[in-house]
Amino acid sequence: MNQSQQLHTLAVDIGGSGIKVMVLDPQGQPISDRQRLKTPDPAKPKQVINTILTLAQSQEFDRVSVGFPGVVQHGLIKTAVNLDPDWLEYDLATNLSQLLSKPVKVANDADIQGFGAISGQGVELVVTLGTGFGSALFVDGKLVPNLEMGHHPFRKKETYEQQLGRAALEKEGQKKWNDRLEKALANLEHLFNYDQLYLGGGETKNIDFTLPDNATIVPNINGLLGGIKLWTN
Ligand code: BGC
Repeated sequence: MNQSQQLHTLAVDIGGSGIKVMVLDPQGQPISDRQRLKTPDPAKPKQVINTILTLAQSQEFDRVSVGFPGVVQHGLIKTAVNLDPDWLEYDLATNLSQLLSKPVKVANDADIQGFGAISGQGVELVVTLGTGFGSALFVDGKLVPNLEMGHHPFRKKETYEQQLGRAALEKEGQKKWNDRLEKALANLEHLFNYDQLYLGGGETKNIDFTLPDNATIVPNINGLLGGIKLWTN
């Protein structure tokens, strides 16, 4: 057995409303309960990192995977629409790594959800419905990083996230939100011609229409489980 086969990964999922952690074994199986704390307000780097440090304190691990709700390019945070503008250009991996004295990798949260959900065959699209509208695209298991459908125009001069994010759900109610989601999925099917669509995120619990055969709801825990792929892919 080589050394990386014995390493334990602390998976972190930074969301707009909660920050979650769980420890994964070398095969990516959970070996701790999921812990969650509310996302601090304001959700600036210092406050969010302090929350992660609090959650990490009671866990034993060798390396860290973080899902961040924005574009992450070459280790730097490029967007953080649902957190705070102070994140822009922030080097989360390096800063968190220094504080935890452990190697840290960071990727977009929907990309990590996707790693937890996909089969690795064909064109697979992942959409996450939470505070924001996340999206991730895979071809035969290979990720196209940072697909940002959420901020693209959808309808009525609004983006997918403006029409389908949690704020819209709370404002417009479940019926309207479901009607919009059905329209959005029809759009995405014709845009990506995917083999399989996965719907993740906490708000999937509100879906009340029958999904097409090539669409499945996947558990939100994938946002943590997928973290193993940052080390094994
Ligand atoms: C962000 C995405 C993120 C999604 C879900 C969007 O607002 O732009 O990067 O994946 O929210 O958190």
